[in-house]
Amino acid sequence: MKEIEAEALTEITNAKEELALEKIRVKYLGRKEGIVTEALRSLKNLSLEEKKRQGPQINALKAKLEKTLEIKKRDLEEGKNKKTLDIDITRPGEKIIKERKITTGHLHPLTVLENEIKDVFRSMNFSVLEGPEIESEFYNFDALNVPPDHPAREMWDTFWIKSENAKTSKEKLLLRTHTSPMQIRYMESHEPPLQIVVPGRVFRFEATDQTHEVNFYQYEGLMVGKNISLANFKYVIETFLKRIFGKDIEFRYRPSYFPFVEPGLEIAIKFRGKWLEMMGAGMVHPNVFKAVHYNPRDYRGFAFGGGLERLAMVKYNIPDIRLFYSGDTRFTNQF
Ligand code: DAH
Repeated sequence: MKEIEAEALTEITNAKEELALEKIRVKYLGRKEGIVTEALRSLKNLSLEEKKRQGPQINALKAKLEKTLEIKKRDLEEGKNKKTLDIDITRPGEKIIKERKITTGHLHPLTVLENEIKDVFRSMNFSVLEGPEIESEFYNFDALNVPPDHPAREMWDTFWIKSENAKTSKEKLLLRTHTSPMQIRYMESHEPPLQIVVPGRVFRFEATDQTHEVNFYQYEGLMVGKNISLANFKYVIETFLKRIFGKDIEFRYRPSYFPFVEPGLEIAIKFRGKWLEMMGAGMVHPNVFKAVHYNPRDYRGFAFGGGLERLAMVKYNIPDIRLFYSGDTRFTNQF
């Protein structure tokens, strides 16, 4: 028995895998021909005395082997688990390296276009600046020659901000409906000659559809000096639009009305065979110069303003303005 025990324990210790361990179990404890099982079975042929002596020994051996096998089996299992976890998780998987490109974030199409616009105007010596999204009634309307009750106010459905104690139009707040108020803010603190472009977010209290959003972006331009004329405007705006849409576009100028310019214009381009309205513009109205304490006899200027989404929709053939704000990466990933 002692020999069998020693031999079995050595074999168990040396077993490297569960299958080998199972073989050892069968060899010693197997129901049919297991060595220990056989020994137990042959007890019946022995004398009562021998039975009493050997029985407990063999049973003890059987219990010991069962226990040892069980412990070893658990060790092997744990070892196997350990092995599967024994990997460098900081190392990129073969699959990822070979098949998948690692994606990085990128700029929103509107940001890309806004950067392009800034670059074009900077190259023509314009300064780029931004203004507040919460504006006062004064800057958004009054100073731009749109006094209260002026019918032109209906051109801009406005989100008003509760300001009950406001007495003056400078204290009455709103979400700016266009970037034009920055014309006033800039001229108040600067003397001509000046040339600026102002990209920025604007708000309109409107129902949304394919071409309308409550929130969108505009770019505003202003150039003021002693002898600025529509010819200067034409050069600047055509240079700008050609840089965005290519040299082959055609231009169309039609009279229009905006309270802060006289004459007012609407500019359309012919792009891929279609005439498309791009922006409003005109020569700065004398009342606007008066509002910033410029003498209208001394200066002339032009101003223009358009929608950033409009430019992007035409350039990239995008059918619905709401796509820009959908957060849908299937859309943004195309740019
Ligand atoms: N602010 C106008 C709008 O939002 C667009 C515009 C028209 C701006 C004519 C101008 C301009 O500077 O001269 O509808």
